[in-house]
Parts: sequence; C-alpha cells; structure tokens
Amino acid sequence: MATKLFAFTSLLALAAARPTVTSRSADRSDCWQTNPGTVFYSCSNGYTGCFYQDPCSLPPLPSSAPPTPLPTTTSEAPEKHELTTPRSYNIYPLSTAQHNVQDKVPHVDLNKPAGSATTTTNALVFDNVPAGAKNCILNWRSTAPTDENNFTVNGSGQAWTRQLTGFPAKTDIVSFDGLKPFQDPAAEWTPSLDFTGWTESPGSHAGSKLECGEQVAVELKGSGEGEGENRVFITLTKTNGFFLTYEL
Ligand SMILES: *[C@@H]1O[C@H](CO)[C@@H](O)[C@H](O)[C@H]1NC(C)=O
Ligand SMILES: *[C@@H]1O[C@H](CO)[C@@H](O)[C@H](O)[C@H]1NC(C)=O
Repeated sequence: MATKLFAFTSLLALAAARPTVTSRSADRSDCWQTNPGTVFYSCSNGYTGCFYQDPCSLPPLPSSAPPTPLPTTTSEAPEKHELTTPRSYNIYPLSTAQHNVQDKVPHVDLNKPAGSATTTTNALVFDNVPAGAKNCILNWRSTAPTDENNFTVNGSGQAWTRQLTGFPAKTDIVSFDGLKPFQDPAAEWTPSLDFTGWTESPGSHAGSKLECGEQVAVELKGSGEGEGENRVFITLTKTNGFFLTYEL
C-alpha cells in the first residue's frame, strides 16, 4: 500500500511540475478541488504538487538537482580600483616635529642636500581602503608639469619603499620618532626604484605589492650616496605621483 501511494504521489508531482503551473495559490485550490484530501507541497527535493502525505523528506527527484551556476558568476574578473592623493609626511631625521600637514599640494620630497649624507624620508598613508580589497600595489606616474603636477629628480633618482604596520592616529605627531612603533625591522625594503627619467617619459609604473588593510601606509627613503644633491620631488595629485591600486 505504501509503495502504491508513493507511485501515485510521484506521478502527481511530475504532473504538477509542468511549466504552465505558475501560481502557487492556483496550485493550492487545485489540490482542494481536483484531489480532495491532498495538500499542496513545494519541497527542495523537487516534489511540487498535491500530496496526501508530506513528500519533502523523500530522496530528491532527478530533475531537482540545483542549477549549475552560470560561468559568468564564478569567473567574473575582479574590478581594479585606484586611490590617489594619500596623506603625505616628509620626515626629517631625528626631528620630533610634525611635517607637511599645511602644504597646498601634498608632495614627496626625498632630499639629500649637496655635501650632506642624510636624506629626508617620507611616509604615505592611504585611508579608507574598502574591506575585502585584494592585490594592493603601490604605483606612481608622472604627467606634464603644471602648477600642481611636478615630478622632479636631481642627482640620484634611486629610492626604496617599505610597508608600515600601521600609522599614527590623525591627532598624533607623524615624525621620525612617531613612526617607530609602525616600523617592522623584519620588513624588507623594496629593491631600488629608479625615478630618473620619469618627467621625460610620462606614464604609470606598478611598484611594490602591499598588504591590504583599511589603512595602507608605506615609508620611502632616497639615496644618501654621493657628494652632490639627490632630490626626488613628486607632488601627489589625481594624475601625478603615488597612488594605490587594489581589486574588489
Ligand atoms: C618642481 O619642484 C621643484 C622642487 O621643489 C622646484 O625646484 C621646481 O621649480 C618645480 N617645478 C615646477 C614646474 O613648478
Ligand atoms: C642639482 O644638484 C646639483 C648638485 O648636485 C646642483 O648644483 C643643481 O643646482 C641642482 N639642480 C637643480 C635644478 O636643483
């Protein structure tokens, strides 16, 4: 008897699964009118229709296999985004003062004056990197010089970058000492970047890969080599200087 009931309900299920049945309320009233004593069920195992007993715990019907997702939903290329105009602080060795917060145009100034062996360094921070950002990369580019766009190298254009583990709070001093808690001695400086010639041949360049986070901060240092001046002066605008790219 149980077997017979099973067969009957299966047939009904298949009949009720016809694509012409579109309205759930019509199904319910159909059950009441055409098969008194049955109840409408719509189960995840594929049984949809009028049944005397709850069919939802039966093994799934072959036709109820979950639809395979369209390839476009799994292989969709991540979208690339960029963040420009990081906050920038030029750091004077051994100084405790905060620098570069009042500048009209934020800039990186890695400066070793002629006759000196010390060079200013710089700390950059990109704020509000979205959660879930991946493949963070520090890039730079130069555009034709304007009042705001300036990409100037004198002497050695060699420089190095290193990611900071965090950044001083907005109310804290960003200085040589203020950065110390965020410098990981084990973190490696990038191989030397060469900013020479960028003014003459504008374009974009992808630099070091960085760990993504809500804040992404790096420090830069220029070359202390030689007797002459080494200076890398780069303004940070939407079209010039350092920017961060990431994928979402
Ligand atoms: C770019 O900056 C350097 C360094 O401050 C400066 O000497 C030069 O005059 C600037 N260039 C322009 C076009 O403003
Ligand atoms: C570049 O540096 C040299 C010293 O090495 C200096 O004599 C010269 O004036 C500098 N040029 C500019 C444009 O600052």
